[in-house]
Amino acid sequence: MNIDIDKIRSDFPILNEEVYGKPLVYFDNAATTHKPQVVIDAISEVYKKYNSNIHRGVHYLSNVCTHAHEDARKKVQEFINAAHSHEIIFTRGTTESINLLSTSFADTFLKEGDEVLISQMEHHSNIVPWQLLEKRKGIVLKYIPINKTGELEMDKLDSLINDKTKLVAITHISNALGTINRIKTIIDKAHAEDIPVMIDGAQAVQHVKIDVQELDCDFYVFSGHKLYGPTGIGVLYGKEKWLDKMQPYHGGGEMIKTVSFEGTTFNELPFKFEAGTPDFSGSVGLGAAIDYVKSIGIEVIDQYEKKLLEHANKGLSSIPNIRFFGTAKEKASVISFLIGDIHPFDIGTMLDKMGIAIRTGHHCAQPLMQYFNIPGTLRASFAIYNTKEEIDKLVESTQRVAQLFG
Ligand code: ALA
Repeated sequence: MNIDIDKIRSDFPILNEEVYGKPLVYFDNAATTHKPQVVIDAISEVYKKYNSNIHRGVHYLSNVCTHAHEDARKKVQEFINAAHSHEIIFTRGTTESINLLSTSFADTFLKEGDEVLISQMEHHSNIVPWQLLEKRKGIVLKYIPINKTGELEMDKLDSLINDKTKLVAITHISNALGTINRIKTIIDKAHAEDIPVMIDGAQAVQHVKIDVQELDCDFYVFSGHKLYGPTGIGVLYGKEKWLDKMQPYHGGGEMIKTVSFEGTTFNELPFKFEAGTPDFSGSVGLGAAIDYVKSIGIEVIDQYEKKLLEHANKGLSSIPNIRFFGTAKEKASVISFLIGDIHPFDIGTMLDKMGIAIRTGHHCAQPLMQYFNIPGTLRASFAIYNTKEEIDKLVESTQRVAQLFG
């Protein structure tokens, strides 16, 4: 594996920042990743050189900006190997993509009594929209349970899928545990019963190669800001056959073909789902982030992060009374742990003072925490710019903090 970590680190200006006079060690990448200079530049260029509203103008700047936005869509298409660029809908992020689906898919295809199957390890963004739909429409939400290692109990799948199941919506990788789910098996089993599947890829696109055609998933959603891109931009990939039939989500400009007081006809894909002025600086920034990830290679990133994970597992295991949550065989570079009965917030706060940023709390996955009977965990999540030396610092500092708490 050929990776120039010094060069990669120099691409991220924020890594030169100090916190409390100490060099920043950033292990909160599952929450959001930092941005390389090329992404910052791409966003800044939009406003410096061609800012103009897209799709509607006959003038030069509008055309340049429209092309940049549509080029970004093609970059996303290529990155996840979608069959068509119009199957890429820009949203504000994973959360909005799932809300779009739980509204538009449900309006078109679901009725009272129909079932949506999720899992016990979902982020709140793949639970609450479906619960809102339970209230709105009387659908029934079911979930695949997990076991103590933080893996889905796949043998329960057959009994959970029945003729009332109308959608399976599952996370690809758990944000709190790092478990990589066997989504291909789930997709194939659901498809055998003609049930469409949505995959929440918020924690996956930055770690593993995604090929939506090979997976054959019906929908795949993710956010730009966890993929080294800007905040406020995300993606809903959907197969044309579903998107074409689905009701629009937001009404407004650009999503229509004709409007009169007698009625409105809707625009073609992808515009039917992109009402209002789209976040074109966000899409361009996301396109630049994808170019950046490709310049390193997602497989290289995956291998490098696996080495970081291995190193962290080994180092942290030496700390007395440490308990890991999520010990699945297949894992992304996310480690959740507790030390004895010390509250995660206390350890996290002290690590922060040492310049180390990790996450503490329930990670927007309260049902998962309820399963483990804990209020939350400490979570360290790694990205391409992290190093083994930083992990050594985490291990050493966590050990010191644990000793202080006795
Ligand atoms: N979903 C983000 C996380 O896991 C915010 O931290």
